[in-house]
Amino acid sequence: MGFGAYENLRKDYNKFELLDSKIDKNPINQFELWFSESLQSEVEEPNAMAISTVSNNIPSTRIVLLKGVSQNGFIFYTNYDSEKGLAIENNPNVSLLFFWDKLHRQIRINGTIQKISRSQSVQYFDSRPYESKIGALASNQSKVAASREEIENRFKDFKTRYPENPPCPENWGGFIVEPTKIEFWQGRTGRLHDRIVYEKNNLEWSTKRLYP
Ligand SMILES: Cc1cc2nc3c(=O)[nH]c(=O)nc-3n(C[C@H](O)[C@H](O)[C@H](O)COP(=O)(O)O)c2cc1C
Repeated sequence: MGFGAYENLRKDYNKFELLDSKIDKNPINQFELWFSESLQSEVEEPNAMAISTVSNNIPSTRIVLLKGVSQNGFIFYTNYDSEKGLAIENNPNVSLLFFWDKLHRQIRINGTIQKISRSQSVQYFDSRPYESKIGALASNQSKVAASREEIENRFKDFKTRYPENPPCPENWGGFIVEPTKIEFWQGRTGRLHDRIVYEKNNLEWSTKRLYP
C-alpha cells in the first residue's frame, strides 16, 4: 500500500458550530453538554480518553475510561504501580484528550492529577463486575510476564482464592485530573474550525478563541 492510501484520506466537517454566544461560561458544564450529545450519537465509547503522562521528560499516552466528572475534575481508575501510576508519582502534570469522530469534536485538557480517597476507590471497585475485580487483583499491570499462560494461571489462581467478593487491592484506585485549561474543538467546513480555550486563573475561568 502506497502513501496515497493515507494522503487522500480527508473529510469535510459540517455538522455543528461552536458560537461564542452559545458556549457555557463554565467548561465543565460545556463538557457535560458535549458528553451527553456523544452518548446520544453513535460514538462507541464516549468516555474513552487518552491520558498523557511525562516521565524523565519522555511523554507516554494511553486510553483509559472516564468514570466521573464534577467541578473538581475528571476521574478514572487504574493500577497505581502501572507505568502511568509511577509516572504520575514523579510528575503530576498530565493532559487528557477526547476525540468524538461522529461529531467532529475534540476536547483537550491540561491539569494536575492526584489520587482520590481510598474509600471512594473501594466504593467504585465494589460496584464492578466479578471479572473486572479479578482483573484488578491479578494483573501486575505494565510488568513483564513470561508468557500468556503465566497470566492466565494467575487469573485462575485469584478466581480460586476469591470465588466471591474479591477485595479492592491496595495498589488499585482512582485518580482525578483537576483541569487548568480545556480546549473545545469543533470541526467546521473549509477547515474553518472552531477552537475555544478556557483557562483557570485565581479560580475563575476565562475564554478565548484560537485560529484553527
Ligand atoms: C478502550 C480502552 C479503555 C481502557 N481503559 C482503561 C482504564 O480505565 N484503566 C486502565 O488502567 N487501563 C485502561 N486501558 C488500558 C490502557 O490503555 C493501558 O494499556 C494500561 O492502563 C497500561 O498503561 P501503562 O503501562 O501506561 O500504565 C484501556 C484501553 C482501552 C483501549
